[in-house]
Amino acid sequence: MTTNYEAQLLEKAKSRTALLGIVGLGYVGLPLAVELAEAGYRVVGFDLSQRVVDLINGGRSHIQDIPTERLAKLVKAGRISATTDLARLREPDGVAICVPTPLSKTRDPDISFVSAATDSVARTIRPGQAIILQSTTYPGTTRELMLPALEKSGLKVGTDFFLAFSPERVDPGNPKYNTRNTPKVVGGVTPACTRVTMALYQPAIETLVEVSSPEAAELVKLLENTFRSVNIGLVNEMAIVCDKLGVDVWEVIEAANTKPFGFMKFTPGPGVGGHCIPLDPHYLAWKMRTLNYRTRFIELAGEINAEMPEYWVEKVVAALNDHQRSVRGSTVLVVGVAYKRDIDDLRESPALDVIRLLERMGAVVRYHDPYIPELHEDSVALTSVPLTPETVRAADCVVIVTDHSKLDYAMVAREAKALVDTRHVVAGRRPAR
Ligand SMILES: NC(=O)c1ccc[n+]([C@@H]2O[C@H](COP(=O)([O-])OP(=O)(O)OC[C@H]3O[C@@H](n4cnc5c(N)ncnc54)[C@H](O)[C@@H]3O)[C@@H](O)[C@H]2O)c1
Repeated sequence: MTTNYEAQLLEKAKSRTALLGIVGLGYVGLPLAVELAEAGYRVVGFDLSQRVVDLINGGRSHIQDIPTERLAKLVKAGRISATTDLARLREPDGVAICVPTPLSKTRDPDISFVSAATDSVARTIRPGQAIILQSTTYPGTTRELMLPALEKSGLKVGTDFFLAFSPERVDPGNPKYNTRNTPKVVGGVTPACTRVTMALYQPAIETLVEVSSPEAAELVKLLENTFRSVNIGLVNEMAIVCDKLGVDVWEVIEAANTKPFGFMKFTPGPGVGGHCIPLDPHYLAWKMRTLNYRTRFIELAGEINAEMPEYWVEKVVAALNDHQRSVRGSTVLVVGVAYKRDIDDLRESPALDVIRLLERMGAVVRYHDPYIPELHEDSVALTSVPLTPETVRAADCVVIVTDHSKLDYAMVAREAKALVDTRHVVAGRRPAR
């Protein structure tokens, strides 16, 4: 008699007796592990980093959105543990892969982490396992890269094991939406793969959205982030346009935003950062290049967003010029270096470009960021200075790059000799008339 692995997994999901594995315990993997454990599952996390594994086993969180007390409770109760031993990937009934998907130096997808994680799973796969890829990637990764590697085991997808793509939408630092209450899209290689994945996630995620294939699910994520990149690019271009026309772009945006339909507000700034918006659209652009199609919106938005640090550095040059100062030898205080408000993530932050450009021009750069006490990136090595009237006054120009909520911008505006505000936090938004 053949075993019905689908029925087994559905039952294990219902009774929460499934053991779940998470590969990659970073910004995505750890919050997912915590939600699954709080829903009643036992979770084992896998990571290559001994430091991350030791921290988690010691009940200490390295991810800002997960308070240590929340994690410690689950570790103490035996609901979450972590290991670097990838041979133990045989144990879990469901495995979610949450490893990085960066770009290479030539801005092509670097799929090596997904390949390595897939190889680890393929080495230990057994009948009755569900494998779910969560890393953002190009359409086709699940079916073309993972499926053949897993089927080398001789097991058949949809009956012996289950394979799906379910993109991660977590927005670090978002006080309203988290892993649990953000709807989650699932696309299985077969209908049974979708059913099993939805059943496993159902106890931990409030809303699940089924799509018909992993390719559709992969594209959902790329559409979402391309949409953001393109609209940020558009509004950044509008900021340049307004500047040239002598019009206040914020006034224009706020007034446009009074339209109750057909407009969605995006705000200009120093460029885009993080592990998603600057990178993900390039996964799609790359895939389409292999099919001889050029995704023009993606490239243009990427270009405009990447040019914004230079645009703002020119504003610093102009502000110093107004005070009879050259950049060379001037002290510039950068306020906020994280890639967005109220988080401690520096990845791809436009602040790094702003700092590099200013240093290259001979400025003495200081920075303040309450979330990032030290900054060591390529050629940049700095320590955060306190944000006080003294440090603000000591700078020839202050440039606000990240609009962290709790900073005293009124003091900055009062004390700064010259000020460049890439986020419009000082002027405040004009009320709509
Ligand atoms: N950070 C976000 O806000 C966010 C949001 C949505 C989607 N994503 C996507 O989720 C994926 C993960 O991103 P992240 O921000 O959590 O990355 P991260 O760098 O915070 O964490 C990844 C973890 O995976 C580990 N790892 C790498 N290779 C491994 C392997 N072969 N086996 C086991 N562990 C391995 C690393 O040591 C690290 O701890 C990416 O594809 C990203 O694009 C991220």
